[in-house]
Amino acid sequence: MSIRLRLERVARRFGGLQAVVDFSLTASAGERIAIIGPNGAGKTTLFNLISGELAPTGGRIELLGRDVTRMPPHRRAALGLGRTYQLTNLFPRLSVLENTLLAVVALRPMRYVAWWPLAAYRDPLDRAQALLAPLGLWERRDDPVAELSYGEQRQVEIALAMAPGPTVLLLDEPTSGLSAAETRIVHALLQGLPRTITVLLIEHDMGVAFDLADRMVVMHQGRILAEDTPEAVRRNPRVQEIYLGSA
Ligand SMILES: Nc1ncnc2c1ncn2[C@@H]1O[C@H](COP(=O)(O)OP(=O)(O)OP(=O)(O)O)[C@@H](O)[C@H]1O
Ligand SMILES: [Mg+2]
Repeated sequence: MSIRLRLERVARRFGGLQAVVDFSLTASAGERIAIIGPNGAGKTTLFNLISGELAPTGGRIELLGRDVTRMPPHRRAALGLGRTYQLTNLFPRLSVLENTLLAVVALRPMRYVAWWPLAAYRDPLDRAQALLAPLGLWERRDDPVAELSYGEQRQVEIALAMAPGPTVLLLDEPTSGLSAAETRIVHALLQGLPRTITVLLIEHDMGVAFDLADRMVVMHQGRILAEDTPEAVRRNPRVQEIYLGSA
């Protein structure tokens, strides 16, 4: 199967702290990889290295066969990398539709002019509708994002990350802070993501992580403690020890 993302001995230091150490991983087309691990394990730092928001202090990162180790984030995004953040990253005072249109038109800075009323663009509107309607959020398009429930905001974020049609999608704790009912909705949304996309998912909800993952990576103190099928990881005594120890 073709490799979408390859990390070779990737490392990141913050002063004396080794946040990510010697991290090697490959992700194939369509694969779902769940990354779990206690607080401070280095999971978000790893995503920041993959997306380019942080520069690695060692190692090499390949996206779709290209060395992107020193490539800025917007160029990685243009290559097909999408992501969501641990804390929501929407414009709270703008409406759902305005947030969506910003994401849609941001992809084509040469074709759309910023001062033009965004809603005048027929094609982006259609795309916004196509993104929001399946989530039941088209009806809420004129509501400021701040008036949505946290679960709905999470759904909007995932939809916006999907706007450019990414081939690799990084999701940092998409169910954090959600109620059980909201978690079920986001879980179903993630289950429905097309298999054309490779998904790396940081997830603290073990029900969601074990269900979605083809493969699980357990991070501890910046390193890979275990990398295996969900069943094998569930039975791994060292993994159990670390979770019990950090609970
Ligand atoms: N910009 C930074 N400067 C200094 N230290 C940082 C920075 N970002 C992260 N760290 C440290 O690196 C370590 C890993 O942090 P990271 O946020 O990657 O953990 P995490 O696995 O995502 O944790 P959580 O589950 O709480 O989100 C932590 O000790 C954190 O304090
Ligand atoms: Mg984190």
